[in-house]
Amino acid sequence: MANGAPRAQWGSRLGFVLAAAGGAVGLGNIWKFPYIAGEYGGGAFVLFYLFCIAVVGMPLMYAELIIGRRGGKDPLGSLRALTKSSPAGPALSWVAGLMSVAGGFLILSFYSVVAGWAIHFLMISLGAIEMAPEGAEATFGALVGNGWMSALWHSVFMLITIVVVAQGIQKGIERACSILMPSLIGILLILLVYVGVTGGLGDSLAFLFRPNFADLTPGGMLEALGHAFFTLSLGMGAMITYGSYLGKDSHVLRDGVAVAILDTVIALLAGTVIFAVVFAAGKEPGAGPGLVFVTLPDLFQSMPGGGFFAVAFFFLLIFAAWSSAISLLEVVVTFFVDEAKMSRTAAAWGLGLVTWGLGMAVAFHGPLLDFLDNLTTRYLLPGGGLVIALIAGWMLSKQDREAGFAGANVLAAGWTFIIRFLTPVAVALVLLQKMGLLQLGG
Ligand code: TRP
Repeated sequence: MANGAPRAQWGSRLGFVLAAAGGAVGLGNIWKFPYIAGEYGGGAFVLFYLFCIAVVGMPLMYAELIIGRRGGKDPLGSLRALTKSSPAGPALSWVAGLMSVAGGFLILSFYSVVAGWAIHFLMISLGAIEMAPEGAEATFGALVGNGWMSALWHSVFMLITIVVVAQGIQKGIERACSILMPSLIGILLILLVYVGVTGGLGDSLAFLFRPNFADLTPGGMLEALGHAFFTLSLGMGAMITYGSYLGKDSHVLRDGVAVAILDTVIALLAGTVIFAVVFAAGKEPGAGPGLVFVTLPDLFQSMPGGGFFAVAFFFLLIFAAWSSAISLLEVVVTFFVDEAKMSRTAAAWGLGLVTWGLGMAVAFHGPLLDFLDNLTTRYLLPGGGLVIALIAGWMLSKQDREAGFAGANVLAAGWTFIIRFLTPVAVALVLLQKMGLLQLGG
């Protein structure tokens, strides 16, 4: 076992859960989940997404955390340390390591542009910018159509992300998240009660939770699988990094499950509120990437105290996105600090600048956002997850593999079976089916 030198640890068990959840909860939950659920027809897509969380997401969450915990280093270093005795270990570790860096860089570039849109709407809520008289939809359209405006907010968001990572002060942000994230849940609950009273809730629940399997396409399945990775921050070593700061092995399983459940609950809550607004207004669920930005501002305008809730909501959304963006940049920076011996400051500013540059291209050229999102969510993260699952299932020592189960042998055996067979097969099937190499059902 490779415990290495003593490494900084989380202050408390709850502190770790909240910090890891802070990295996981972000735009994926509030912005992305509702809009893809809307595009892919609701119910069946949501059910398949929940299936992916359970069969692929949770087992991989444990795998990444235990790899980080036992390896005690960045993703590449941890994987290499734990697979020394396996002939293919070093090569596969490099594959996963390089995919992690590429994933962090590519995801952050478009993530920051979307977070920038949230800043724009915060400014509107604060009264610093005027909403278009035709309402939120026109406001969003104008924002996306104005590359300079998107670029400005993207630059602001990248700047605050780089500053935190360069200074190595993410712990402070994560601690703040442990207060702010429950507030985000609180606001979503208030909005849920409000839409429960004003209407749309029944239609929303039916749309999200009544599956019609004829709606589920291979494209939808791949998107659901990819999103399970994206929303739980899996497939690119972010959770390996978090795991490397964990103190004891014994809680890894429970903590990982807690993070996954918290993340899922927030996404479902956001989706339920947003679709209630959509249906109450007689609109279409498939509005695309602008969904959260065109529905909630309209809700806030009609709601008593809406001005306050709008400010609070967009502030908390930006914070959630910030803590996720930090974890993305941190993976990239740690790689260059550990493997290329760069200084943290140079790595954070240098790589942050490159990411900012790609994000500028996204701000001015909308289709690039979809392209980067699809490339990473659908292929890079599931591909990276597949490699990590194979390493976790087949190359770790039994002792390393089962360290987080605290002697619960039945659970350990069940997990080993899942990570060896079910997870890789599920990921491979969905990828193959999408490539048209396999035809499952209708
Ligand atoms: N999970 C975050 C969200 O849902 C995004 C994110 C942060 C992420 N770190 C990641 C995604 C690492 C993949 C890998 O907003």
